[in-house]
Amino acid sequence: MSMKTTIQSTDSTSPLIEKLELEVKSMPKNNQTDNQLPCGQHDLPARLAKALAGKFLVFDGPDGSGKSTQLKLFLDATKRAKIEVTEVREPGGTEIGEKIRDALLEHLDREEMSLRCEMMLYMASRAQLCEQVIDPALKKGNLIVADRFVASTYAYQGAAGGIPNEEIEAAANIAMCGVEPDATLIFQVDQSTAASRLNPLLDRMEAKGAIFHAKVRDGYSSLVESDKDGKRYLGVDATGTPDDVFANIIAVLERRFLD
Ligand code: TMP
Repeated sequence: MSMKTTIQSTDSTSPLIEKLELEVKSMPKNNQTDNQLPCGQHDLPARLAKALAGKFLVFDGPDGSGKSTQLKLFLDATKRAKIEVTEVREPGGTEIGEKIRDALLEHLDREEMSLRCEMMLYMASRAQLCEQVIDPALKKGNLIVADRFVASTYAYQGAAGGIPNEEIEAAANIAMCGVEPDATLIFQVDQSTAASRLNPLLDRMEAKGAIFHAKVRDGYSSLVESDKDGKRYLGVDATGTPDDVFANIIAVLERRFLD
């Protein structure tokens, strides 16, 4: 398990962190600020469920975008629709990947992790996941639903960290070995919405501060804007209630897979 702790951001003027510190005081007992489930049941329209079989879908976006809540709703809906689903998360999703996840997200006492080491560790976890889980599941015809994938590296280590896209692409080609998502849903939120949804116990990445996270959000927006066909990176307005956001996901997927 990754260790989370309440710490100061590396950006000490961070309004995100100030807001988070206030929210610690009113934190619900179960610590789940990103898990306010809506009352209604959410089903996949039958045509869409059929079209999704055998596809590789990624849910991605900044910390606090509400992705975890939507993933749960979506996965429940796929089960009711009786689609064979393989669910994975990054970093992690394999025994080796989970060890890499701990190395990436735990706070370090004595040294800083270099940016290139960080990027390569995300890629190493991805390489294991692609070969061990995603590729075999796709060959079986399962729907793959991934909690984060390579879009995260472009946003966090690229747009926010500063590694050029071409270098990330070159590493991704090695890690992914031809495995490509059919579509990546990018959950788009403003800073105050993201702050209100974050668990106040920040991991190493979440604690990088408001300036870093603003660049992450811009990085995700650039991916959506750069995809002129709207097939690869699909922006989802994630600012509303869980019910609203789920409806947005369905609309975006129908446009991508049914039109
Ligand atoms: P999670 O909290 O959504 O599980 O994600 C773990 C953290 O790792 C999150 O802060 C985003 C970050 N991350 C990257 O910086 N680069 C990557 O390639 C991936 C997959 C995640």
